[in-house]
Amino acid sequence: MGEQAENVTPADSAGRWLTRERDAGRDTADRAALTGLLADIRDRVLNAARLRPGHDVLDLGAGTGLLTHAAARAVAPAGSVTAVDQSAAALAEIRTHRERIRPVVGDACHLPIADATFDRVVARSVLIYLPDLRAALREVARVLRPEGLLSAFEPVNARRRHDANLDGITPDEIEAIDRLRSSSSPSAGPMMSFDVMPFTDAALHAGFITPAVDETTVTEQLSTHADVDAHLHRRPHPGASSPVDLITRHLGAGTTARYVTAWHRAFDHAADRGGITFTTPVVYVTASIGAPRYGNG
Ligand SMILES: C[S@@+](CC[C@H](N)C(=O)[O-])C[C@H]1O[C@@H](n2cnc3c(N)ncnc32)[C@H](O)[C@@H]1O
Repeated sequence: MGEQAENVTPADSAGRWLTRERDAGRDTADRAALTGLLADIRDRVLNAARLRPGHDVLDLGAGTGLLTHAAARAVAPAGSVTAVDQSAAALAEIRTHRERIRPVVGDACHLPIADATFDRVVARSVLIYLPDLRAALREVARVLRPEGLLSAFEPVNARRRHDANLDGITPDEIEAIDRLRSSSSPSAGPMMSFDVMPFTDAALHAGFITPAVDETTVTEQLSTHADVDAHLHRRPHPGASSPVDLITRHLGAGTTARYVTAWHRAFDHAADRGGITFTTPVVYVTASIGAPRYGNG
């Protein structure tokens, strides 16, 4: 299907990506591995949030509700979960019946929510998308009650690496492709510049105290030629172009053909070590809110 085949707003591209495009070209084993990884991350973020029955929770950038449903079970019967996302299409996937779940379409940098509403804010892979991390963390601090807690997981995509040796693609071409990737969607720029220090600085600036940071790595492998093709044709995040579409549009079909060939050749050379490995640093951060602050300081 072509890039422009469906008319969705940038905000609503998340619904389509989370429900369909993220899994495009993955075989059953790969889908199961991704589901398992997401469940592990979900559990770790929610455990770190120390959810208790009765808590009111904000799931920031809730998407289709990976954290929302599990959080709702943890705070039942009296607690609630407010699922905020800019994508109405993503929020429409969240099951709201029987549980105290409230979907709210809104921007993480300007939350349509009163001060001191929540005991906990949880987030997975959301802060990396935001153009103004400081504004978002000020908003999170504002809507938390005193002694509230933020628990977040974010991948540090700027430091994501692979071990494929792309013979035949020059360093200048690699640089040009990296530049294209970092402007391939409104979120690509913030995503490529997201790192741990700016995150913890923004948290401290917003009035959080004692951010606890646990950095680890996640590895994923392209273990068949089909995996390589799927990787090259899949959108890496909502609204972004696939590598093949991006390179074809900006550098031409000839460069794309050489790029695709280089990846498959790299896979042949990596086959005896199980394939091409991507390593992504990821960070779990918990931070509690101190005494109420006034102004934007
Ligand atoms: C990778 S998805 C993660 C969704 C969900 N947290 C999960 O774990 O599956 C990123 C989400 O952030 C949302 N998002 C991005 N920028 C946003 C903004 N400025 N305000 C609110 N939501 C935003 C997107 O719409 C998308 O649903």
